[in-house]
Formats: sequence, C-alpha cells, structure tokens
Amino acid sequence: MEDTCILAIESSCDDTSASVLCGDKVLSNVIASQAVHQRYGGVVPELASRAHLQNIVPVVSEAIAKAGIRKTDLSAIAFTRGPGLMGSLLVGTSFAKSLAMGLGIPLIEVNHMQAHILAHFIDEGQRKPSFPFLAMTISGGHTQIVKVNSYFSMEVLGETLDDAVGEAFDKTAKILGLPYPGGPLIDKYAREGNAKAFTFNKPNIEGLNFSFSGLKTGILYFIQKQTAINPNFVQENLADICASVQQTIVDILMKKVLKAVKQTGIKEVAIGGGVSANSGIRAALTALGEKCGWHTYIPKFEYCTDNAAMIGIVGYYKYKEEQFTDVQTVADPRLSFSAK
Ligand code: KG4
Ligand code: ZN
Repeated sequence: MEDTCILAIESSCDDTSASVLCGDKVLSNVIASQAVHQRYGGVVPELASRAHLQNIVPVVSEAIAKAGIRKTDLSAIAFTRGPGLMGSLLVGTSFAKSLAMGLGIPLIEVNHMQAHILAHFIDEGQRKPSFPFLAMTISGGHTQIVKVNSYFSMEVLGETLDDAVGEAFDKTAKILGLPYPGGPLIDKYAREGNAKAFTFNKPNIEGLNFSFSGLKTGILYFIQKQTAINPNFVQENLADICASVQQTIVDILMKKVLKAVKQTGIKEVAIGGGVSANSGIRAALTALGEKCGWHTYIPKFEYCTDNAAMIGIVGYYKYKEEQFTDVQTVADPRLSFSAK
C-alpha cells in the first residue's frame, strides 16, 4: 500500500495547487496564488477560472517533477469536486478527469472542507487526532464545528448563519484600507497592538452556530465615527484596531469550542482552514487546551490555506477503500459532507 502514489488537484477558489503523495507522505505540494484579485478587494470568479486555466498545466508538471516520479507511476488522481466557485472547480475537475482517462487510472472526488479536516493526517511524524474528534473549520467560505467520527463520517454541529470568519477578517481589512486577502495582514499588525484598546459587541447566537455580519457592521460604524472626529484615526491606531478585532474574533471562536467540548464530552480538538493560520487563534486554542486538559491539533502553516496535499490525503484514504468516481461526475459548488 505504501507504493500508492496519488496526484491531487485543488482549484476551488483562487489558488491552483497540485501535490503528489506517496502513501500518507507528501512528496510535493505546489501552489500558485492569484495576485490578480488584490486590486478588486476580493476574488473575482471569472478572473479566477481564467488564471486556473493558465496555471494548471505548469503547476501539475512541477508537482510531478518535484516528487521525482513519472506520470506512469501514479495510482490515481484526486480532485476537489466542491464546495467552491463553479468556474474554478470546473478547471481542476476537467483536467483531473482527462488525465485519469488518458493514463487509465482511477479518479477520486474530494470534498474541500473534509480535506481541511483530514489535513491533520498528512504524516509529518506528528501526533494525529483520534476518533471521534471535534474540528473547527475556519476559512474564507466556511465556519463550522464538525464532529469527526471517522475519515468518512462527519457531522456538522454548528455553522455560521451569515459571513464566514475569514470574511470577517477580510472585510475588516477592506474597511481599514488594506489589500485582499486582509486576514494575514490583520494578524501581522495585531502582534504590535493592544488587544484591549477597543471593544466590539459580540454576537449572542444560540447553540454552536456563529454569526459575523453584525461584527463587521459594528466595526464599520466604529471606524466611520472615529474618522469623522480624526481623519487619521486608522493610520494612528492600526495595530490597536487589528489587535482588538482579532481578540474579539478569538473570543467568539474559543467560547464556541468550549461549548462544543462541554456538549459532546470530546476532548480532542482540531482546527483547519485558512484562518487557522492566525497566530492569535493558534495561541488561544493551545492555551485553552492546556488549561482544560484537551489534546489540540493545529495544522502546519502550509496545510492551513488552500493546498492540494490535503486533497491528496483524502484521496489516499478513499483509494484504500476503492471509493472511486465515475468520469461523468460533475463539479458541485455546494457539495456537502453527506454527499461524500
Ligand atoms: O482555506 P482558505 O485558503 O480558502 C477558503 O477555502 O476560503 O482560507 C482563506 C481565508 C481568507 O479569508 C484569509 O484572509 C484567511 O483565510 N487567512 C487568515 C490568515 N491567513 C489566511 N485570516 C487570519 N489570519 C491569518 N494569518
Ligand atoms: Zn479552503
């Protein structure tokens, strides 16, 4: 089984990525990010699919070359079927299907959100979560708390009712005049700031669900009010604003994780998705886990934001169970966990 060699392709949003895995180990993980969206303050779907078309062949070729294998060594091809942007998904899906047909090897469809969770099983010699565990998936498109019963059985316990947490970061950054994606920049400036400088109202949402649209509006009104008094308010207080906003988001997330652990009695807690790269969230989860006696799992930076290695690890587990996909399968922008 260790000879299993999977080529994985991820193209759900604005990163074109290809990876080769041998068993559960990554041989290569190539990511081409699309700078074209920066000046628009968000991902422009039509530009994203065009950029995927330009990137896909060089990215896949580089992944195969870096892995030191030949195409004929591949056992199967895994691809992101959804959720994501339709035009973007179509590029990776069509490419994966054609290559699998050309090489005469199996095709494996992967759910992008399931991949953010199973990224913890990419073998880097680290401790891996044991089932059942809780996973908080925090990205630009999703915010969920998931109970993970096995590689293929996952239940959503709570999710956002409106914006994703990544949108809260990115929209705040836009209000502050920072380029897209603003999450990493808020993280960077927050390190120099005072997290207690400003306070923002936190949403009061029942159960394990989230809401971030009120926070975004609260920040917008706060900034408008302050800049009416002092036009240089943002420039003069950037680090403190970023630190205070980040702390508010950290508090919202940690409160829900704590609630999920109390509700389920599960003390294995993982995070995944682009926002799990945030240093404040990583530190807060580690500290909370130490305080409460949980095992916490935080992915390596390169497996937080969108990447094909996480698609490959799901592909590997599906390959072992021969969960193959028909070439007639189409991309699904709203693919849910239950649809595998
Ligand atoms: O998982 P991902 O790469 O794409 C989606 O599936 O959405 O997540 C992208 C999101 C963006 O909103 C980006 O601003 C956010 O992850 N992000 C961060 C950080 N790094 C990426 N947010 C806060 N702090 C970071 N360090
Ligand atoms: Zn993602």
